[in-house]
Amino acid sequence: MVMANIRLDRLNSSFLTQDYLDLESQYGANNYHPLDVVLTEGKGVWVWDVEENKYLDFLSAYSALNQGHCHPKILAAMVEQAQKITLTSRAFRNDQLGKFYQKLSEISGLEKVLPMNSGAEAVETALKAVRKWAYQVKGVLDKQAEIIVCENNFAGRTISLVSFSTEDQYQDGFAPFTPGFKVVPFGDAEALEKAITPNTAAFLVEPIQGEGGIIVPPEGYLKKAEEICKRNRVLLVFDEIQTGLGRTGKMFAHQHEGVKPDGITIGKALSGVFIQFRLFCLLLK
Ligand SMILES: Cc1ncc(COP(=O)(O)O)c(C=O)c1O
Repeated sequence: MVMANIRLDRLNSSFLTQDYLDLESQYGANNYHPLDVVLTEGKGVWVWDVEENKYLDFLSAYSALNQGHCHPKILAAMVEQAQKITLTSRAFRNDQLGKFYQKLSEISGLEKVLPMNSGAEAVETALKAVRKWAYQVKGVLDKQAEIIVCENNFAGRTISLVSFSTEDQYQDGFAPFTPGFKVVPFGDAEALEKAITPNTAAFLVEPIQGEGGIIVPPEGYLKKAEEICKRNRVLLVFDEIQTGLGRTGKMFAHQHEGVKPDGITIGKALSGVFIQFRLFCLLLK
C-alpha cells in the first residue's frame, strides 16, 4: 500500500493504531503477521486508517476485492436481498440458487456448480470429486488414487491442503498428513507427464501461482498440461481462486491459453466480499 494523504475530517475515535494492535494481541490467536495499519473505511481503490491516513490499496485482499471496496451495486443488491430473505437452508429451495448456478456455468463453460464457504473448502471438494471419479469412472483400485500438485502451491490451510504444501511453516506441527499427493515442479510439463501413473486421478494447479511471489508459467504450459492430462485420462483442475474473475485480464487465467479444464475452483471476488463464498465447478464426464 502507498500512503497518499491525511483526512483530518475523520478524527472521531479516541482509539489510535497502537490501541487496536494491543487489543488484537491480547485477545486474538497469533496466526498471521499483517502490517500495523488499522483500516476503518474503504471505497473503490482507496482505504483509510483510524488515524485518518488515506492509502491506495494495491493488494485488493489477494483478489477478493477485484471490484474494489464496498462496490455500490453489490452493496445495494445485498441490502435488497437481505430485506427479503437471508437463508433458506438446503432443506428448501429458493428463487436465487438456480439463476446463480446458470450464471456461473455460463461464465466458466463448465456444466455443474457446487457452492462452498471458503476457498479451502472448494479445493477440498475438488479433491473429493476427482477421487470419486477415479474410483467410479476411471476404475482406480480403492484407496490408490493419486493427485498431482505443484511445488510452491497454495490451496488453503486445512490438514489435507497443507499435506501437499511445500512450505515448511504451513506443515510445522500439524502432522500426520493426508496421503495420495505427488508434487512436481511448477511450469515443467515433462515432470507432470513422468509423475502420472494408472492411479492418477487429477492434476491440480494454479494457472499463475500467487504464494511467495506471482509466478507465471512458461508460455504453452497450460496447453501442454491439458494435452498430457487428456492423453493419460487424468482430470485437469485449475485452482482459480486467486486468478479468476477478471484478475488477469480475462474472466479466468486459463483462458489466456484457450484451455478447457475439467474443473475449476473459484473464490475471493465472487461475492464482492460482502459474504464468504467460494465454488467448485465441474464438467461431468
Ligand atoms: C490459489 C488459492 N487457492 C485457495 C485459497 C484458499 O482460499 P480461502 O482463503 O478462501 O480458504 C487461496 C487463498 O489465498 C488461494 O490463493
